[in-house]
Amino acid sequence: MSKVRIYTLAKDLGVENQKLLEILDSLGVAYKSVSSTLDTETVEAISGILAEENAGGTPASGETAAPATTAPDVQQAQPEGTQAAAPQATTTPALKDDVTQTASASAPTPSTTSPSAVSQSSTAVATEAPVSEAPASEIPHRSPVVTIMGHVDHGKTSLLDYIRKTKVAAKEAGGITQHVGAFEAQTSKGRIVFIDTPGHEAFTTIRARGANVADIAIIVVAADDSIMPQTREAIAHAQAAKVPLIVAINKIDLPQADVDRVKTDLTMVNLVPEDFGGDTVVVAVSAKTGEGVEDLLEYISLTAELEDLRADPKGEFSGVVIESKVDRQSGVLATVMVQQGTLHVGDFLVVGETYGKIKAMTDTLGGRIKSAGPSTPVQILGFSEAPVSGDKVASATNEHTAREKVSVRVDTRRTVEEARAQRKLSLEEMMGS
Ligand code: GTP
Ligand code: MG
Repeated sequence: MSKVRIYTLAKDLGVENQKLLEILDSLGVAYKSVSSTLDTETVEAISGILAEENAGGTPASGETAAPATTAPDVQQAQPEGTQAAAPQATTTPALKDDVTQTASASAPTPSTTSPSAVSQSSTAVATEAPVSEAPASEIPHRSPVVTIMGHVDHGKTSLLDYIRKTKVAAKEAGGITQHVGAFEAQTSKGRIVFIDTPGHEAFTTIRARGANVADIAIIVVAADDSIMPQTREAIAHAQAAKVPLIVAINKIDLPQADVDRVKTDLTMVNLVPEDFGGDTVVVAVSAKTGEGVEDLLEYISLTAELEDLRADPKGEFSGVVIESKVDRQSGVLATVMVQQGTLHVGDFLVVGETYGKIKAMTDTLGGRIKSAGPSTPVQILGFSEAPVSGDKVASATNEHTAREKVSVRVDTRRTVEEARAQRKLSLEEMMGS
């Protein structure tokens, strides 16, 4: 493998530049910028660390790997309509996803991190290439992506339903099939993209993914139930993903609702509400009556403004897989969040170790679209295999480059696997077995 630039490697491996820089720091490899080039040993060390991280984060057994829990996972992630349509079909890709993830992670243990890989790699070279980036102020604003999380039955989907029914334009009112767990809403505060997540305890992975794609997390807490295990978990995901969170205390219409108790309980998990002297934004709402929902939208919009969310629709495309399923009639349907650039029908996309050409795209209301800019969730038809949820999506100029990108990834993985097998072998020899 010849020398490779940091940003090219990040794209090829489907991770953020920042992530690679952190790994380089941890390896003690010097670099000047994301244009610096890396030698083969460093690339291998990085790939090894990423593979091991993935393996560590992917439950090989347990909660999400077992078919019994995986099936409702995906079904719950799908808004109504799709569940009823093809429960069988939605189950399949989930299982496949898990298999793919486990397989591609090749199940090493974190303890196999090789000190030799670290020492080998301290010879990185920094060759500069000009990076042309528009000044931040010239990049247009984009809509916020807001993930709704919280304990089971605390009213996440109801809250989103309320926002949709009352705020989405008239054409959406007539019983539309909702294809994805992500959707766009035109609200009084402008366009907001929402991602619904399940609250059942089995679905940790899906909540973590939801948090990772979010600009803002809404933690829904039922006023009659207060903080529950998945509330705590959801808060932890939002904090781990470093996204600002807003607490929505829901179901305040219930006679047994106790908003003050929830606020007190929030302080126990270090989220001190503003009116208790802290800096956590807490809004009391009812998904049933709609009380407080306008305030919630206002807080979302204020938070988004502070975050100064921008993305260049003319820049290079990047996105992330929200979910995927196999439809009996259409084939593989992948929901992708466009994060930067613009997708067009006919574009080639690379995800994980697979690629596809966009045959058709639909928005979250099921309408056919030809292109999609930043902060747009789209359902894409054109992959031959279901891509893994949470994976980064990149574009390729043509089929040839798409194939090449995939083969670089496959080669990198194999190199890492071989190196690991080799290490294991020599370790066994050392141990005299
Ligand atoms: P999961 O997706 O399973 O985690 O649940 P969820 O958080 O999406 O809850 P969902 O919206 O499905 O609501 C659960 C139940 O609470 C339903 O019976 C809703 O009708 C009810 N509910 C939700 N919000 C409110 C509310 O503000 N007031 C009242 N009275 N009931 C509500
Ligand atoms: Mg729900």
